[in-house]
Amino acid sequence: MTVVDETGGTGLLRIDGLVLDYATRGPGTSSRVRALDGADLAVAAGETVGIVGESGSGKSTLGSAVGRLLPRAAVPVAGTVRIAGESVFDLAPGALRRLRRERLGFVFQDPAGSLDPTMRIGAQLRLALGDRKADVTPHLERVRLADVRRVARSYPHELSGGMAQRVAIAMAMAGGPRLLVADEPTAALDAQVRAEVSDMVFALAAETGTGILWLSHDLPAVGRLCGRIAVMYGGRVVEDGPAGEVLGRPAHPYTAALAGAAPARAAFGTRLEPIPGRPPLLTGASTGCAFAPRCPFSVERCTTERPEPRDVEGRSVLCHRAGELAATGLEARA
Ligand SMILES: Nc1ncnc2c1ncn2[C@@H]1O[C@H](COP(=O)(O)OP(=O)(O)OP(=O)(O)O)[C@@H](O)[C@H]1O
Ligand code: SF4
Ligand SMILES: [Mg+2]
Repeated sequence: MTVVDETGGTGLLRIDGLVLDYATRGPGTSSRVRALDGADLAVAAGETVGIVGESGSGKSTLGSAVGRLLPRAAVPVAGTVRIAGESVFDLAPGALRRLRRERLGFVFQDPAGSLDPTMRIGAQLRLALGDRKADVTPHLERVRLADVRRVARSYPHELSGGMAQRVAIAMAMAGGPRLLVADEPTAALDAQVRAEVSDMVFALAAETGTGILWLSHDLPAVGRLCGRIAVMYGGRVVEDGPAGEVLGRPAHPYTAALAGAAPARAAFGTRLEPIPGRPPLLTGASTGCAFAPRCPFSVERCTTERPEPRDVEGRSVLCHRAGELAATGLEARA
C-alpha cells in the first residue's frame, strides 16, 4: 500500500479540526464534555513540540488521540488525525496495532501504568521488542541506567520512580518510533531526576531522529527542551510557533498570561501559577473565543465569533486581535 503523505513529505503527524467529547453518565442522566473543540497541530519528522496549557485544556486527550488510545467514554465528533498520511481513526484494528508498534511510542506520568508488576523488566522489554531471546542490555544502557543486568532481573517495585520511568522510556523507544508522545513523563519525579530524565529523552530522540510531542505544565522546561510550543486552551491550539518566540514574545493573550505566571527565569520544574478566573468546561462548540471571560483584551466580537488560526510573526495564533496586540507588545501589558 502506498502511504500518501499529505503534509508535504516531511510531515509526521497532522491533526485537523479535531473535535472530541467525553460522554459522562450519572444516575438517570447523560451529558457531554467537549474536550477538544477543533484542535489543529502538525509535527514534522524529528521535530520536538511541547504542548502546554492549564489543567483540562485537552493536552492528554490530544496526545492519546494520536494513537487512538482514548478512554472508553471518548466520542470522536469531527476532524482527522494522520500519521504519515494514514488516518488513525479510520484504520482497522490490525493496521492500528501495526501503526502503534512501528511508528509510535507513549510514555505517561506514572511508569507503573506501562509496566507489568508481575514480570521482570528484562522479560517485559523482550515482549515489547517481540523477540524472546533479545539482549535487552543495550536498550537499558541507552536510557542511561547503571547496572543494567541487575535492572533486567528486577521487578518494577524494586526500582525507584526515576529508574522505572527510564525503563518505560526504553520500552517506548524499543521499536524505533518516529514519534514519541510523552504525557507529563517527569511530573512525578523530584526536580534533579526530572531534569536528568527529560534531557536523556531529548538526547536519545535526537540520536534516532524521533519526533517528540511533550505534554507538560512545566513551561520553563518546555521552553528549554522543545523546538516548538503549542499552547492549548479550551480544547484548541491557540498559539503555535518556535519555543523561544512564543515564550519570549507571546502573540496570544492566554500565552502572555501563562508566560507571565511562569516567567522564563522561574526555576526549572516550576508549575504554572493560576491565572485569575477559571478555564471553561465546554459541553459543545464554543460560540466565540473560549478565553474571552478571562481576557483583558476582549471586545464584543470575541464572544460571538470563533477565532480561526492566523499567521502572526511566524506563528499560528487563534485570536481576533492577534496582529494588533502582538504589535503593541503583549507581554508588557498582560
Ligand atoms: N475519561 C474522561 N471522562 C470524562 N471527561 C474527561 C475524561 N478525561 C478527560 N476529561 C475531560 O476532558 C477535558 C480535557 O481533559 P484532558 O485530560 O485532556 O486535559 P489536560 O490538559 O491533559 O489536563 P491535565 O493538565 O489536568 O492533565 C477536561 O474537561 C476533562 O475533565
Ligand atoms: S479573541 Fe478576543 S477574547 Fe480571545 S484572546 Fe483574542 S482578544 Fe482575547
Ligand atoms: Mg493531562
